[in-house]
Amino acid sequence: MITVTVCVGSSCHIKGVREIIRRFNDFLVAEGLEDRVELKGSFCMERCGEGINWKINDEDFSSSCVEEGFETFRKKVLGFLNEKTDKRPDEGPTQGRI
Ligand code: FES
Repeated sequence: MITVTVCVGSSCHIKGVREIIRRFNDFLVAEGLEDRVELKGSFCMERCGEGINWKINDEDFSSSCVEEGFETFRKKVLGFLNEKTDKRPDEGPTQGRI
């Protein structure tokens, strides 16, 4: 599960965060990824001057407009998910032997 957190503070709201959330959500539903990607809202991320602010897990993103934000989201989310599915079973955490 990856977590996408979108700032819903007033500055990001003015820049179009409602539309970006709708686009993110529509994409997750269309791709059947709702159970693998959690979409959350956040108070001001204190990066108001940088654009529409959001993050994937702990990685910060600032988007200049809805379209650019959506394209970044689409590529990054698919990248994160492919990264996880590319791992071989033996790459998981080491388990102790009895
Ligand atoms: S309102 Fe979004 S970073 Fe401040």
